[in-house]
Amino acid sequence: MSDTGTPPPIAVIVLAAGQGTRMNSDLPKPLHRLGGVPLIAHALQAASLLEPARIVVVTGHGADAVEAAVADLAPWAVCVRQDQQLGTGHAVVQAAPALADFTGDVIVLYADTPFVTAETLFAMQAARRRHDIVVLGFEAADPGRYGRLIMAGDRLLRIVEAKDATPEEQATPLCNSGLMAADAQVLMRLLGKVGTSNAAGEYYLTDVPGLGVAEGLTATAILCPEAQTLGINSRAELALAEAAFQSARRAEMLDNGVAMQAPETVIFAQDTWVGRDADIEPHVVFGPGVTVESGARIRAFTHLEGCHVSAGAVIGPYARLRPGAEIGNDARIGNFVEVKEAQIGEGAKVNHLSYIGDADIGAASNIGAGTITCNYDGVMKHRTTIGRDVFVGSNTMLVAPVRLGDQSMTASGSVITEDVTPGALAIGRAKQVNKPGLAIRLMDRLRAIKASKKG
Ligand code: UD1
Ligand code: CA
Repeated sequence: MSDTGTPPPIAVIVLAAGQGTRMNSDLPKPLHRLGGVPLIAHALQAASLLEPARIVVVTGHGADAVEAAVADLAPWAVCVRQDQQLGTGHAVVQAAPALADFTGDVIVLYADTPFVTAETLFAMQAARRRHDIVVLGFEAADPGRYGRLIMAGDRLLRIVEAKDATPEEQATPLCNSGLMAADAQVLMRLLGKVGTSNAAGEYYLTDVPGLGVAEGLTATAILCPEAQTLGINSRAELALAEAAFQSARRAEMLDNGVAMQAPETVIFAQDTWVGRDADIEPHVVFGPGVTVESGARIRAFTHLEGCHVSAGAVIGPYARLRPGAEIGNDARIGNFVEVKEAQIGEGAKVNHLSYIGDADIGAASNIGAGTITCNYDGVMKHRTTIGRDVFVGSNTMLVAPVRLGDQSMTASGSVITEDVTPGALAIGRAKQVNKPGLAIRLMDRLRAIKASKKG
C-alpha cells in the first residue's frame, strides 16, 4: 500500500445496539448522560471531527429512543437496526446496505466508549495507509475481560477474546479497545466469513484481523492511553467516567484562562464554552448549550443551561438561567432569579427574586424585586416586551401578552394587564385606606374572645 496522497473518504459506524444489562436501567445505555449529554454524543462528536462522508449508527436495544437522540445530535447520520444482538461482527454487518455504494475506509466506534480523541482516530487513519486493518489497542492495567492482541512485532496476527484465550494468551497485557479501521468493502467481505464457534456463540468483529491475515492482508495495532478506551458498562463506571470527564474539562478551562476559585466544585457539560478571564465561582452547574463570554462573572450556586452570557454580565449567586436566556453586556441577574426564553438588554438589572420568561427587556431597564412575567395562561405562552430605561416596581405581575414602552414605570405591587405607553407610570393596585385606631380596637376584641374561651 502507498503511504502518500490524501486519505480515502471515511465512513464511521457507531455500535449502539447492545443491551447494557449491567447498567440495571430502563434507559438504553447510549442515552445515559455523561457531561450533560447522552453517552453516544461523545462518540458522534469524535466521529464528526474526522469529517466523515457518512455516519451509520447501529441501534437495537431501545432503538426508537436512541434513534431520536441521534436525529437530534447528528441529523445527517443514518441509523440501521440490529434486531437481535448476535455480536459485534453481526452489528457491523447491519451497516453494509447503508455503505453498499461507499468507496473508502470505515472506522468502527462504540457508543459506550466516550473518551477516544480525534487525534487517536487520525492516527488510526494514518496507520491505514500502511496496513489493511488497523485496530486500536492499549496496555491494560487489568486485562480482565478484554480481547487480547496477538502481535508479531508491529504486525497484528489476530485478536482472541478473553473467554477463548489460552492462559499464555491471557497473560498478554495488550488489549483490544474495540475500534477498528479498514476498507469498507474489505471489512464487509471478511465479516461474511465470521462464524459463531466461540465461547460466547457470537459473531465477533474481532475475528476480522485473523481472517484478513490468513488471506495475506496485513494488520496492525496502534496504542493509546487506557483512559481513552474506557468503556462504560455499569453505573459505577459511568460515575468514574463523569469524574474523569469533569477533571479534564476543568483543567482545559483553567488552561484557557478561565478563573475558578474551586474548580473541583464546578460541573461542565460537553459543549460548555467559557471565554478568557470569565470568573466562575464555586458550585456552578453548566447544563448543555451554554456559552459565557470573556470577563463575565458567574457567581456561586448558579445553574445554567441553553443560554448565553455576554461580556461583563454578572449572574447570581443562586440564579437559574434556562434555555433561551440571552443575557446582554454588563447586565445583572441576581439571587433567586429565573430567566427562560428571554433577552435581557445591555446593562439591564433583574437583581432579586424574579421570574422572567418569554420576555424581552430593553437596555438599562431595572426590574424590581419579586417581579413575575405571568407568561402562561394554562394553555398558551405569551410574551412580555419591556422597552429601554423602564423601571418596574417591586412585586409587579406582568400579565402577558403585555408591552411596557421605553422609560415607563410600574408602581410596586401592580398587576399590569394592559400595555403601558412610553414614559407613563402604570398603577395597577387597590388604593390604600387608613382607619385610625382600628388596629388597637381589633386586637383588644380578639384577646377578649380568647380569654372568655379559657374561663
Ligand atoms: C468487545 C470486544 C473486545 C474488546 C472490548 C472493549 C468483541 C467480540 N469483543 O467486547 O475484544 O476488548 O469490546 O471494550 O468485539 N454491540 C452491538 N450489537 C451486538 C453486540 C454489541 O451493537 O450484538 C455494541 C454494544 O452496544 C457496545 C459494543 O458493541 O457498544 C461492544 O459490545 P460489548 O458487548 O460491550 O463487547 P465486549 O464484550 O465488551
Ligand atoms: Ca463492553
